Amino acid sequence: MTTLENTTGTTPVASDLVAGFPFPFPEDRYRYSTNVEPAEQPVVTPAGQWGAAVVDIDSEYRSELDQRAAILAADPSRHAVLPHMVPAAWDTMLTLMRELDAVYPEQMHLENLGGDEWLWRNDILGIEQCFRYADAATLPDEPLRYIASQVQEDIALLDQRNDQLFVDAGVVTFAADWSFGFDVGMSFLEIHGPVPRIRKEGVITRAHEFLKRLQPHQPYRRTNWTLTIDRRLDVSTEIYHEWGPDRETIQHVDDEEFGRRVHLRVEVQHLIRLPDSGAIVFLIRTYLLPLDQLATVEPWRRRAAEVLAELPADMAEYKGIIKYRDRAAQYLRDAAPVAPLPSGP
Ligand code: HEM
Repeated sequence: MTTLENTTGTTPVASDLVAGFPFPFPEDRYRYSTNVEPAEQPVVTPAGQWGAAVVDIDSEYRSELDQRAAILAADPSRHAVLPHMVPAAWDTMLTLMRELDAVYPEQMHLENLGGDEWLWRNDILGIEQCFRYADAATLPDEPLRYIASQVQEDIALLDQRNDQLFVDAGVVTFAADWSFGFDVGMSFLEIHGPVPRIRKEGVITRAHEFLKRLQPHQPYRRTNWTLTIDRRLDVSTEIYHEWGPDRETIQHVDDEEFGRRVHLRVEVQHLIRLPDSGAIVFLIRTYLLPLDQLATVEPWRRRAAEVLAELPADMAEYKGIIKYRDRAAQYLRDAAPVAPLPSGP
């Protein structure tokens, strides 16, 4: 893993995490919108690019998979497959294996051995597995959890029935202040109930109509964002007692610690209609960049400061950042590069 030269006193972060960071703000002002776009082209940023594929492996791969395994072992409610979603779980597994094989051909290999027989190899993790599609006895784990142990993305599966979408399966270990165990079985519209503004603005009803018409082989993507203290992926409601108090204590640390510990947290979410089962897979890939690193990319520093300062209070409250977003905006403003003194005549 390459880490950045730490000559500036900023947090050492692997260079690929800056280059691949999906900076989420196209404007100085952020409002909720039905921000979905075809997942066709990578997005070029001042630091690099993101979005080349629906699955993304970076230098955190092993660490994040270890964290997911530990979370699932401690709390099995982060994984659920309602009985009617078993075909969709197999469909998801094979779809993601195909994607991995296409995007990482050096390390990931999927081979059809004839009919329903397949050979899967993940050389990063040293896995070699023959399996028969839809035959649970041929895999060491339930198929959704099996593939979730090999991708950094959280996975939710939506069933479509009676003109509605329901979150009826998933493996979600890195939820940002929600609970998969609580939400499983709920409709898409119910799940978005707590979000301010969106009902009046029609954001979620439009997204619902759009998703119901989603076609196979035409993946879409969107981003969502918040701030998180430390590199903590699991900020789910279940363990609020572990991370909630940080929102208080972070207000009292010095600037150096503030910039090192407060992270811009961005989710790249992909939406894919599965070809066989007709379910929708919702992939949530979470990226964390500390503010001190963010501030080293000048256009990001300037824009994030504007967005945080301007964000309406109800949205900041819902995102759980109301107590420290002003300080975060000020931190980024203060990190402006010092203009060079004009040289004499
Ligand atoms: C939260 C929009 C798809 C689950 C939100 C928020 C917005 C939003 C604006 C508030 C985020 C924030 O302030 O941080 C959308 C749109 C979608 C979409 C436009 C599709 C085009 C989905 C899907 C799921 C989902 C497919 C399935 C699991 C959630 C959950 C929350 C959330 C669990 C947190 C709700 C809570 O506070 O309990 N979404 N979303 N979203 N979304 Fe979505």
